[in-house]
Amino acid sequence: MRITRSAEHLSVPLSVWSLLRLHCVALLCLMSLPVRTDDACPSSCSCARDSGTVTCLPDGGHTDLPADVPTWTSTLILKGRNISTLPQGAFTVNGTELGMTTLSLSYNGIHTIEPYAFLGLSRLHLLDLSHNHLETISSRAFHGLLELRSLFLNYSLSADAAAQLSGALSAPGLRNLHRLELAGNQLKFIPMERLDLYNLHALVLINNSMENIGSENISSLYQQRRIRVYLALNPFRCNCELEMFYYWLKNSSQCQDAERVICREPEARRGIPVEKLREEDVDCMNENLEAVSYVFLGIVLALIGVVFLMVLYLNRGGIKRWLNNIREACRDQMEVYHYRYEQDSDPRLANVAV
Ligand SMILES: *[C@@H]1O[C@H](CO)[C@@H](O)[C@H](O)[C@H]1NC(C)=O
Ligand SMILES: *[C@@H]1O[C@H](CO)[C@@H](O)[C@H](O)[C@H]1NC(C)=O
Ligand SMILES: *[C@@H]1O[C@H](CO)[C@@H](O)[C@H](O)[C@H]1NC(C)=O
Ligand SMILES: *[C@@H]1O[C@H](CO)[C@@H](O)[C@H](O)[C@H]1NC(C)=O
Ligand SMILES: *[C@@H]1O[C@H](CO)[C@@H](O)[C@H](O)[C@H]1NC(C)=O
Ligand SMILES: *[C@@H]1O[C@H](CO)[C@@H](O)[C@H](O)[C@H]1NC(C)=O
Repeated sequence: MRITRSAEHLSVPLSVWSLLRLHCVALLCLMSLPVRTDDACPSSCSCARDSGTVTCLPDGGHTDLPADVPTWTSTLILKGRNISTLPQGAFTVNGTELGMTTLSLSYNGIHTIEPYAFLGLSRLHLLDLSHNHLETISSRAFHGLLELRSLFLNYSLSADAAAQLSGALSAPGLRNLHRLELAGNQLKFIPMERLDLYNLHALVLINNSMENIGSENISSLYQQRRIRVYLALNPFRCNCELEMFYYWLKNSSQCQDAERVICREPEARRGIPVEKLREEDVDCMNENLEAVSYVFLGIVLALIGVVFLMVLYLNRGGIKRWLNNIREACRDQMEVYHYRYEQDSDPRLANVAV
């Protein structure tokens, strides 16, 4: 009983409130109506108002950014359009914020991201820039993406863009970045200066050009224990310089696909998982000792040779004498032989005479 009565009590102010709100909404509509038509689906796009999704595929010759994105958009998907440059505030509508949470821009031939390109997208959670041809990324490209959690840059970066990426990722405000995917970009090391600027949990570096992961990057990873790293399809060079990476791989369990981290070089170890190498395979002391011992052997042999030559040189007088002695001995021998020959020949000559 009590409950119903209190509900009745409440119902009066509630209805007044909702009436007021209705008026307000109507007023707002009237105010904003002449400015722009928020509801309209952009001409080259298809819209699903229920899910807040706007999808713009290339048709009817529209190849650029759509002019006005509806304000109710939560997911915007552009694909196969010839965007080439993302200018400052590319997704703001007359400078107003959009409540968008997902922006997918894969396969659009984007090669330049200008400063503040994503201005006004402070609620964006996911940004997909995969499969573009990025050449230039401004160091202020990602400014304002305060809630960004996932950034996909698979198969998108040229060498220049990869070099600029660390600057762009140093932007203040990417503190919520949780997942960074950088597959297929021919990267040779982690293209970020620091890892403690983010809340990174997943770093995908599959199918890049990593031959090793240097000590600096390994130390950074040890310090950020929560980060999970994916490294399959990289051409690891399994010599002793891999030592630190080898122990990190075996020790830290931060690499999620360790069994697919395979040696490409040297020939003898091709196809072997790095974690299956023996400790002595990555032991530089071992390898250095071997090298040192060869050098040492070489030096000893050279010394012996030099000593031999010296002995020869210092004894040159004695050797001369010795040679003379031999020559004399030979001559004596020859003379004896000659004499004997002459003696032997005499009777024969006599015989012939007879
Ligand atoms: C893309 O746009 C550029 C200029 O912005 C143009 O030169 C190029 O031909 C366009 N490519 C396609 C496939 O439309
Ligand atoms: C929005 O932009 C259009 C031109 O693009 C302009 O005519 C209009 O005045 C702008 N409205 C506001 C509120 O800035
Ligand atoms: C690359 O990006 C896409 C998003 O476009 C994602 O679904 C995929 O898992 C990423 N990773 C790889 C290795 O392709
Ligand atoms: C790896 O990347 C190259 C281009 O960088 C691509 O051609 C190849 O298909 C990729 N491999 C896999 C398994 O995704
Ligand atoms: C990774 O290594 C590269 C090259 O040594 C270096 O420039 C970069 O700052 C390192 N990043 C981290 C997070 O250690
Ligand atoms: C971890 O790596 C260090 C070398 O950095 C090594 O001495 C230690 O034995 C390793 N621990 C395990 C459990 O493999």
